[in-house]
Amino acid sequence: MQIRQILLYGIIVFSFILLIGGFWYRTLPDLEIGKRLVDNSCAVCHDLTAEKKHERGPYLWGIYNRPAGSSGFNYSEAFLAKLERGSFIWDDENLEKFITDPKKFIPRTAMGKHDAKHPTAFTGIVSSSNREDVLAYLKTLR
Ligand code: HEC
Repeated sequence: MQIRQILLYGIIVFSFILLIGGFWYRTLPDLEIGKRLVDNSCAVCHDLTAEKKHERGPYLWGIYNRPAGSSGFNYSEAFLAKLERGSFIWDDENLEKFITDPKKFIPRTAMGKHDAKHPTAFTGIVSSSNREDVLAYLKTLR
C-alpha cells in the first residue's frame, strides 16, 4: 500500500469514529440544558428548592417517582378526577406524557390554564430531546 492510500484510509476511519461518537454523545441527556429549560418553563409556577413551597403549582422537590397529588397542594378538580380513575407515580413515562401535553394527559388541568398573573400557561415541550433534558434535571431535585 502506498503512503497516500494509508493516509486516506486513516482519515476515513477517523472521521467515521468522530461521526458515531457525535451521535452517541447527543443521545445523552444534557443537564445544563435541562436546568435552563426548567428555570425558564417551570419555575414561574413551581418552587424547585428543598423549601417545598406551594406557588401557582405544587413544589417539584423530589418529584421523580413521587405519587401524583401527594404534596398537599390544592389540586384542581380535573387533577383529582384523574387520580380517582387510578393513582399513579411521576415516573419517566408519566412525566414525559405530562410535559409533552399537560391537557392531553389530564384534561382541563390547572397547569394549562391562563390567568392574569401568569398569562403564559404551560402548553408542553415539543422537542423530545428537550423533554429528555428536562426529565434528567428533574431527577436531580432531591
Ligand atoms: C402556568 C403555570 C405552570 C407552569 C409553567 C408549569 N406548571 Fe406544573 N403545575 C401547575 C399547576 C397549577 C399544577 C397543579 C395542576 C392541577 O391541580 O390541575 C401543576 C402540577 C404539576 C405536576 C404534578 C405534581 C404533583 O404534585 O402531583 C407536575 C409533575 C408538574 N406540574 C410539572 C411541571 C414541569 C416539569 C413544568 C415545566 C416543564 C411545569 N410543571 C410547568 C402549573 C404550572
